[in-house]
Amino acid sequence: MTDRHIEALVSELREHRDLPDASLLELLSTEQDTSSLHLQADEVRRQIYGKSVFLRGLIEFTNYCKNDCYYCGLRRGNSRVQRYRLSDEDILSCCATGYKLGYRTFVLQGGEDGYFSDERLCALVSAIHAQYPECAITLSVGERSADSYRRLRQAGADRYLLRHETANRGHYEKLHPADMSWGNRRRCLYTLKELGYQVGAGLMVGSPFQTDSNLIEDLRFMQELSPDMIGIGPYLSHSDTPFAAYPNGSMRKTLRLLSVIRLMFPYALLPATTALGTISPKGRELGLKAGANVLMPNLSPVRVRKHYSIYDNKICTGEEAAECLACLAGRIKSAGYELVSDRGDVRR
Ligand code: 5AD
Ligand code: FES
Repeated sequence: MTDRHIEALVSELREHRDLPDASLLELLSTEQDTSSLHLQADEVRRQIYGKSVFLRGLIEFTNYCKNDCYYCGLRRGNSRVQRYRLSDEDILSCCATGYKLGYRTFVLQGGEDGYFSDERLCALVSAIHAQYPECAITLSVGERSADSYRRLRQAGADRYLLRHETANRGHYEKLHPADMSWGNRRRCLYTLKELGYQVGAGLMVGSPFQTDSNLIEDLRFMQELSPDMIGIGPYLSHSDTPFAAYPNGSMRKTLRLLSVIRLMFPYALLPATTALGTISPKGRELGLKAGANVLMPNLSPVRVRKHYSIYDNKICTGEEAAECLACLAGRIKSAGYELVSDRGDVRR
């Protein structure tokens, strides 16, 4: 049984799409049963998106990265990663496979890899756009100049994922070396919005040094930015990073935050992330039940998947995972949802 007090907070949150900081803190940190929070979030999602779960075909096209984020296995300082870049041909063939399977959104995700200049990336986006004009193209390639974002948008990119990671400046500086800037990351997000991208922000739950009040700051920042997509998953440690010894984030807290986000941002596209599926075998299904409505199965060639090792034990990297869609379809249906073949644009 959910505590009456928790139930009252959840109703108020649903009605006003907001709560005072202290009440949000209570919801995020409670040890009580939070089934009412998750049920209400599921209902709000149903009002806007029904039972539909949107698919994004994820193509991890380069694991080179010039940054050195302390939490990420692809950081430049990790010399144990076998680096790879997919050719245009490989990428287009991932799209072809995905299209046949019913995907209508392709997500090109990679580290910040200087090889992919504006010329190269724009040519790639144009080629995909020309071949699949009815599909959405999402980029997730980190911080670039406003001019670069403009050119990519003109080339046919519709959406951009750039997690803000943390809204708190001090916390940001604990997660990143001094050559990375909290201010620039936020600037990038506002620039992307101005250019007409559907924008995704987001964060890791339980990253080292994160406090619950940091999470409230994240919510307040996102209220200001008003992103179309919000990606959250638990922090998971990677053994070849400076944060190797820090514990993983909590699945239950991630699920609580997911539901709070659904109630505060009813229209948002919220993925049940791979990190959630990694921390628990039923994580993604629980994510959907807590208000998520997007899945991002891996479309990358199986031979490179194990090298895109952001954190340890990432799922869908083995030979058995050649067909993530088939694996997910049954699970999703039995959880009461419907996989749809659709661009899945935001419904504001
Ligand atoms: N655990 C969980 N998520 C991570 N990311 C990076 N490293 C980790 C990790 N160790 C997330 C970041 C990044 C996204 C692509 O992956 O939030 O924006
Ligand atoms: Fe990739 Fe199940 S979703 S193997």
